Amino acid sequence: MSTDDLKREAARAALRHVEDGMRLGLGTGSTAEHFVDLLAERVRGGLKVTCVSSSERTQAQAERLGISLTTLDAMPELDLYVDGADEIGPGLSLIKGGGGALLREKIVASAARRMIVIADESKLVPVLGAFPLPIEVVPFGLEATRIAIVRLAGRLGLSGLMLVRGATNGHVFVTDGGHRILDCHFSHIDNPAELAAGLTAIPGVVEHGLFLGLASAACVAGPGGVRVIDR
Ligand code: 5RP
Repeated sequence: MSTDDLKREAARAALRHVEDGMRLGLGTGSTAEHFVDLLAERVRGGLKVTCVSSSERTQAQAERLGISLTTLDAMPELDLYVDGADEIGPGLSLIKGGGGALLREKIVASAARRMIVIADESKLVPVLGAFPLPIEVVPFGLEATRIAIVRLAGRLGLSGLMLVRGATNGHVFVTDGGHRILDCHFSHIDNPAELAAGLTAIPGVVEHGLFLGLASAACVAGPGGVRVIDR
């Protein structure tokens, strides 16, 4: 089975938690794309759900597939949010934002009663941080914000490259909210809660990709099948 097949199986497993009449949040990324695709099949078969997207990319896919969509303003409380992750650590702590949608993803996840993470088993890690942590920042004063993050990281014993996404190839990545992403190569984050609190306190940081205490369960697919991990 390819990694893509595993992602689809994880998405299929999460779909079993979707019931008629639910208010759903749709994630972003290649695994979430499988979920939206499979959800659309169920909708064509008569399932009634109303959805909110976590990115323009997912919005376009869901619209194209005929899924009923609304805004988070019109439907501010959701039953379930389903999304992928870049890393799944202890206690279902997550790194997200590899696709650059972390701000809307976190807002939608926080509006949901439950969040189910879908992933292939390569995403499971004993310690977060091998995947560069995405931090969404406002473009104004970006260098000052970066220096503040470097100082915070130093105080917490973290170091590593901190790169503006896309800058090295001349195509700076701009998020759906018009912000930039700093990808922080910390390699291991021993105390994610401490780092999360420090980042939130820095003016210029809009949001970070540490999702702590948000996921209720994960459907993780490997060659032997899908394992459900509860928090
Ligand atoms: C997007 C995300 C994605 O969920 C994450 O990057 C995982 O992506 P994929 O399912 O393509 O591996 O956080 O911002």
